[in-house]
Amino acid sequence: MSSKKVREWIDQKKDKIIDDLVEFLKIPSVSTDPKYSGDIMNAVKFLSSHCKAIGLDTKVIESDDGYPLVYAEKIVDPNKKTILFYGHYDVQPPDPLDEWESPPFSPSIRDGNIYARGATDDKGQLFIHLKAVEYLLESNDLQTNVKFIFEGEEESGGETIEAFVIQDQGKLLACDAVFISDSAMYAPGYPSVVYGLRGMVYTEIRVSGPSNDLHSGVFGGPVVNPANALALIIGKFIDEESGKVTIPNFYEEVKDIEEWERKEWAQLPFDEKKYKESIGVPELAGGEKDYSILERIWARPTCDVNGIFGGYQGVGGKTIIPAWAGAKVSMRLVPWQTPENIFNYFEHYVRYLAPVGVNVDVELLSVARPVLINLEGEIFRLAENAIEEVWGRKPVKVREGGTIPIVSTFFETLGVPILLVGFGLPDDGLHSPNEKFSLNQLFKGIETVSEFLVAVGNL
Ligand code: BES
Ligand code: MN
Ligand code: MN
Repeated sequence: MSSKKVREWIDQKKDKIIDDLVEFLKIPSVSTDPKYSGDIMNAVKFLSSHCKAIGLDTKVIESDDGYPLVYAEKIVDPNKKTILFYGHYDVQPPDPLDEWESPPFSPSIRDGNIYARGATDDKGQLFIHLKAVEYLLESNDLQTNVKFIFEGEEESGGETIEAFVIQDQGKLLACDAVFISDSAMYAPGYPSVVYGLRGMVYTEIRVSGPSNDLHSGVFGGPVVNPANALALIIGKFIDEESGKVTIPNFYEEVKDIEEWERKEWAQLPFDEKKYKESIGVPELAGGEKDYSILERIWARPTCDVNGIFGGYQGVGGKTIIPAWAGAKVSMRLVPWQTPENIFNYFEHYVRYLAPVGVNVDVELLSVARPVLINLEGEIFRLAENAIEEVWGRKPVKVREGGTIPIVSTFFETLGVPILLVGFGLPDDGLHSPNEKFSLNQLFKGIETVSEFLVAVGNL
């Protein structure tokens, strides 16, 4: 009954919902590059006005050295349960620009998908929560207290919200569960709830040698080349034979995959050939050979070079020994590796590997702790039921290889269940060119969240 009502509402409002989302997606709120800081503020304005417009009590929480948080709530009855929705209004940089079929910040609808940077990660998904609440408010059916917290630094480490959640100690953010849609379903028609996320240590290494670029003929030989030295260092991070990370003590705190997890994951449909084709690689030969593909992504740590720079990059040749070379290196952590220890081990290892004749600097850029969430209790069951009702299938419990930095802090500070229920699809291309979000996922997501809130309201 109520399900039919929400579907009718969505049907009626379709164009308006899409128009609103298009406005939001037009704003290039890239948090990783300060040149977009004005656009971040535009996204804050858009989001806070939107929350107000749908009837939420809304405030912008400014921060001295970070991007604002947007907070909104509707407390219908203090004796009722409260759900806190989290989302991030910042997006990844759009490059490489020439790979986009339509420009990243001119949202375009093709074959039932909306294409734009941030479509699935996370503007389209946080919109699901807002629209579900808008529907319930309009139809006078909101029986659950709702709170929203949006941050603008998720893609750059999430420091502002981290400080806020710790300082708040569950006062403003007091709730019975956190609901987050910032991941994908396991497959189309195959909903999932995520109970584990990897953490992260993000670093930058800089190897420096001579005080200036030098002629490689006049000086080459006795001078240690910083680019060669860098390659030598990063070339040692992975053991070729086992695929293991070679940093001493790196695996010390790693929790083994449980037997039930191995069994359940082995039963999930996974077509290795299709998977390889979809990402365009000939083999999945990376990582630890003793683990399955899903195990390697969800529950084993990694060490990856994300970027490498230095020396001559222009056309033609330039015979120099560069003065310096650098690399961005990140490690994905699994329970219960601690970022502090891992960075420590990493820094020592890099210094140990560095050849005589160059200096190395290792800088820590950001950290996030890994999480494992206990999926039990009444509210989780209601979420499961709502998902099953709308998608015709019970959600599978999965882990994910990605990172949402604030989740571990929510879990530790609020002490409530965290429901990571993503409505993206595996081929959405988050962080890639031609990122998209399926409108069908958007609409069915609204239906799911609305059903869930109605069920919680009946508790
Ligand atoms: N939404 C993603 C994380 C994600 C993706 C979780 C897929 C589960 C499934 C998030 O926006 C993201 O990209 N996080 C960054 C965090 C980093 C910059 C600290 C990541 O994982 O690289
Ligand atoms: Mn995200
Ligand atoms: Mn992201």
